[in-house]
Amino acid sequence: MKKIIDIASFWDNIYKNNSAGWDLKSPTPAFIDILNDKKIISSGKLLILGSGYGYDAVEAAKAGLDVTGVDFSETATNYAKKLAASNGVKINFIKDNFFSLPESYSDYFDYAYDYVTICAINPDRREEYAAMLSSVLKCNGKFVALWFPVEDRPEGPPFGLNVQELTNIFTKYFELIVSTDKVNSIKPRMGREFLQVYEKICEG
Ligand SMILES: C[S@@+](CC[C@H](N)C(=O)[O-])C[C@H]1O[C@@H](n2cnc3c(N)ncnc32)[C@H](O)[C@@H]1O
Repeated sequence: MKKIIDIASFWDNIYKNNSAGWDLKSPTPAFIDILNDKKIISSGKLLILGSGYGYDAVEAAKAGLDVTGVDFSETATNYAKKLAASNGVKINFIKDNFFSLPESYSDYFDYAYDYVTICAINPDRREEYAAMLSSVLKCNGKFVALWFPVEDRPEGPPFGLNVQELTNIFTKYFELIVSTDKVNSIKPRMGREFLQVYEKICEG
């Protein structure tokens, strides 16, 4: 039977049962590198999709970014809010479905970041996901995609990712400006991660 994964309760139950096997319990090393390097992300408004327990959001806020994290799990969002408070940073955590981000966020963000989130949505919604990202990013805004797991895995979540397929979808809305398998991965994820950065194509 197909799992119903497009609902908050599916994910919230995983968090409630302490079964979030993807959770690193710390910020993502490759994302820390991106923040320190400042070539891809410098200052401005950053959207984190599926922000989970909030480790990457807190790291970005500490680096001076104006961070919004969106995740429809109440358990994860409450944890993330506490983590931000205990680290003394202000973050706008939204407990909602990112497919229905309000219109007030249209052309709003300088950056968006995905790690282990697109693999958690139904594969047939990837095009919709790319369109949503394009609408919330400013002209020339960047989408930083740390793709995982890059492997053949039709049953999910996590659903396996194919870089070429994703490139075909995202280049309908964005220009691909970085594409590399040189990622500072944790040991169990080595060889299964890929970094891509897309820039929103401006109209007119
Ligand atoms: C596999 S977890 C990864 C969490 C986080 N990115 C990390 O690396 O720890 C996927 C997250 O996306 C969230 N999520 C999935 N679909 C969503 C949607 N449509 N709207 C908002 N959050 C969603 C889940 O609640 C979950 O926290």
